[in-house]
Amino acid sequence: MDSSVTEVKATPQHVCIIMDGNGRWAKKRFMPRTFGHRKGVSITRNSIEFFARAGVRYLTLFAFSSENWNRPKEEVSTLMELFFRSLKDNSAELHSQNIRIRFIGERAAFSQTLQKQIAEAEALTFNNKAMTLNIAANYGGQWDILNAIKKIGARIERGEISSDSIGQRMLESELSLAETPDPDLFIRTGGEHRVSNFLLWQLAYTEFYFTDVLWPDFSTEEMQKSLNDYAKRQRRYGKTSDQVVEVK
Ligand code: IPE
Ligand code: IPE
Ligand code: MG
Repeated sequence: MDSSVTEVKATPQHVCIIMDGNGRWAKKRFMPRTFGHRKGVSITRNSIEFFARAGVRYLTLFAFSSENWNRPKEEVSTLMELFFRSLKDNSAELHSQNIRIRFIGERAAFSQTLQKQIAEAEALTFNNKAMTLNIAANYGGQWDILNAIKKIGARIERGEISSDSIGQRMLESELSLAETPDPDLFIRTGGEHRVSNFLLWQLAYTEFYFTDVLWPDFSTEEMQKSLNDYAKRQRRYGKTSDQVVEVK
């Protein structure tokens, strides 16, 4: 094949999701926001199973942003509790499905018990190969890039590298998702059309899919719709359509 031709696959290798709309879902039912978060957890479980079955190799879920600490104290503590519970309850099952669990984000801000649970889930599933589940918790895209720059700065200070040698690859190797292909498909439920400080660097050529469906209503039919929509896209990476071939 002509080397200038780009191959594009119909199934995304890497899907990332902003799971938004739990609070509004609960409000519509005259229930506290935390009720929506509880329902959201069960949808999260369904989505992991759905995308793993669909053949997706990496699934990155935005569970808690660095800005979500600014929510009311009770909501933050319920989210932490849910987080801890769902890890404790689901790690073994995900392990049996050959799914690797990885956390991205500043974990030092979490309680010792939660940090321990995170480390245990990561260690248990470390060698699993069916799909990698990245959970973004206390994550911010700006934090991620800054962190990478600081690490490179420290290497310069130690005299290991010169600033001239900084390139795209080097920066990418210091980001949280190093070694992971960039997301092919970005999904945001809940109707907002924004990135909210999720993966900033990695979304450079990602296809965006926005839906008004609230996260607790994101059924497998809705999940399938996002994949069908993705399959119809033509990814050109700056080239012309004649230079792109689709592989099934
Ligand atoms: C997403 O739902 C869950 C988290 C941010 C943890 P929201 O809680 O943001 O729900 P809405 O957007 O207020 O409806
Ligand atoms: C983004 O949702 C973060 C998560 C889903 C974890 P938010 O609800 O926090 O985003 P904004 O505030 O509407 O941009
Ligand atoms: Mg929201």
